[in-house]
Amino acid sequence: MKTIIVTSRKGGAGKTTLTVNLATQASAGGKSRVVVLDADPQGSATFWQSLRSEPFPEVRKVRAESGLAGALARLEQEGVDYAFLDFPPADKKWLRDAMADADLVLIPTKPSPLDIHSATSTLEWALDAESKVAWVINGASVFSKTPDLVFDQLRKTGSVCATIVHERNDFVVSAGLGLGVSEFAPNGKAAFEIDALWKNVRSLLRRA
Ligand SMILES: Nc1ncnc2c1ncn2[C@@H]1O[C@H](COP(=O)(O)OP(=O)(O)OP(=O)(O)O)[C@@H](O)[C@H]1O
Ligand SMILES: [Mg+2]
Repeated sequence: MKTIIVTSRKGGAGKTTLTVNLATQASAGGKSRVVVLDADPQGSATFWQSLRSEPFPEVRKVRAESGLAGALARLEQEGVDYAFLDFPPADKKWLRDAMADADLVLIPTKPSPLDIHSATSTLEWALDAESKVAWVINGASVFSKTPDLVFDQLRKTGSVCATIVHERNDFVVSAGLGLGVSEFAPNGKAAFEIDALWKNVRSLLRRA
C-alpha cells in the first residue's frame, strides 16, 4: 500500500480538492482499491463522498490524534492499494509523526510568495521526518503566467510537481456534485491537469 499525505498548515490551499481528485484518478473506476482517510474535523472529503453515487474511492473519517496508525494498519490488511490522508490546516505532533510513515507528502500551495511562506513550516516537518515531499502549485491564474520568482522560492526549498493546477470552475462544480473533475468533464482542462498530476505522483512513488 502506498500512503499519500496531502497537507499544509495554510488553510484553503486545495488539500481536499486535490485529495479527492487524485483519489478518484487513482481508483480508475474501481480498478485499484483507494481509501481516503478524512482526518479533518471539518469533514470536507466525507461531505464530498456523501454527494456521490459511486462507492469508490471510499472515504473514512478518522480521529487523527489517536486513530491514524490503527486505521492505516487496517487498510494495509484489507489490501488497499492507495491510502490518501486529508489533513486539517494544522501544526500538530500527530501530523509530524504521520509524515514519517508516509510514502509521499504533497503540499499544495497557491503560487504566491506569502502562501508559500505560510506553508514552509509544513515542508520543514516533512524534511525533518525524512519523508519524500513535493510542492503542488494549485489555484494558479489562467490569465497570467506563474511568476518565475514563485518557482525560485519553491525550488529553493524542495521539489515541485511539474503539473500546475489552475483555478478552474470544474473543480468547484464537480466538488458540489460529489465528482472528480475527470468524471464531471473528462475532456476538460482540469481533468487533463489531474491526470498529469497523478502521473507525476506515481512517478514520485516509484522512486520512493
Ligand atoms: N484548482 C482550483 N480551482 C478552483 N477552485 C479551487 C481549486 N482548488 C481549490 N479550490 C476551491 O478553493 C477552496 C478551498 O479548497 P479546499 O477545500 O480543497 O482547500 P483545503 O486546503 O482543503 O482547505 P482547508 O484548509 O479548509 O482544509 C474550495 O472552495 C475549493 O473548491
Ligand atoms: Mg480541506
